[in-house]
Amino acid sequence: MTSRGEGDTFTAMSNKRAMVSMQKVMLRYPTGKTALSGVTLDVLPGQFVYLTGESGAGKSSLLRLIYGAVRPTSGQLRVQNVDMRKAREAQVRDIRRRIGIVFQDHKLLFSRTVFENVALPLRVQGWTADRLVPRVRKVLEYVGLEDRLWSYPEALSGGEQQRVAIARAMTASPPLLLADEPTGNLDVATARRVLDYLVGLNRQGTTVIMSTHDLHLLESHPGRVVRLHAGALVGDEA
Ligand SMILES: Nc1ncnc2c1ncn2[C@@H]1O[C@H](COP(=O)(O)OP(=O)(O)OP(=O)(O)O)[C@@H](O)[C@H]1O
Ligand SMILES: [Mg+2]
Repeated sequence: MTSRGEGDTFTAMSNKRAMVSMQKVMLRYPTGKTALSGVTLDVLPGQFVYLTGESGAGKSSLLRLIYGAVRPTSGQLRVQNVDMRKAREAQVRDIRRRIGIVFQDHKLLFSRTVFENVALPLRVQGWTADRLVPRVRKVLEYVGLEDRLWSYPEALSGGEQQRVAIARAMTASPPLLLADEPTGNLDVATARRVLDYLVGLNRQGTTVIMSTHDLHLLESHPGRVVRLHAGALVGDEA
């Protein structure tokens, strides 16, 4: 993994135990738009974090930073103890294999079956069929879709597709799962069910960071609430 100079001031300041550690992170897009300004936040292993804030507050941008899809313009960001400002592409790819994502803009592959969609992260890691097939069956069973293995995504409802996306995100047992409004566009009952799966994963030890507009979800599943407003962190309550 990465080598770190012990004299590095940030190393001294940051919490090495944190799953995600941000200090004064600023993100400016090439358009000149500042999406995040001075965000300082530590997420510890095992936490369930709701990321809230108005449309345009910077929720998706913050998740993209953690995933390494964009890099901080300034400030410090460590994900699973890798410095994301200095990480090489190969290191970023390595980190991504240890992060499950349920993103609005990471849709399922419509030309592949449910089975193949969920198997993808394991194929990337070189799993052979003898281990891969039972694992894919197990995660699809977990989200209640074991009878839809050979369906194509277009034959599934929106909520079912979202459950396939969750199954895909959890298939390689990542220590960290990022979900960007995973319950958006779902009816209340389906949204609760999707959240139940994420909470279940969290109970098994996965750290979850989930953006949402729907704070009703908190009534059934309390968690830490991090609030963004216009790119700044304005609230953080356990
Ligand atoms: N790729 C991009 N290039 C330029 N500006 C962007 C880009 N993506 C987002 N922005 C801008 O950055 C700001 C934060 O956007 P972001 O998508 O992070 O907000 P959000 O909190 O996820 O909003 P929503 O709830 O609508 O999904 C917004 O002003 C947005 O217009
Ligand atoms: Mg968003």
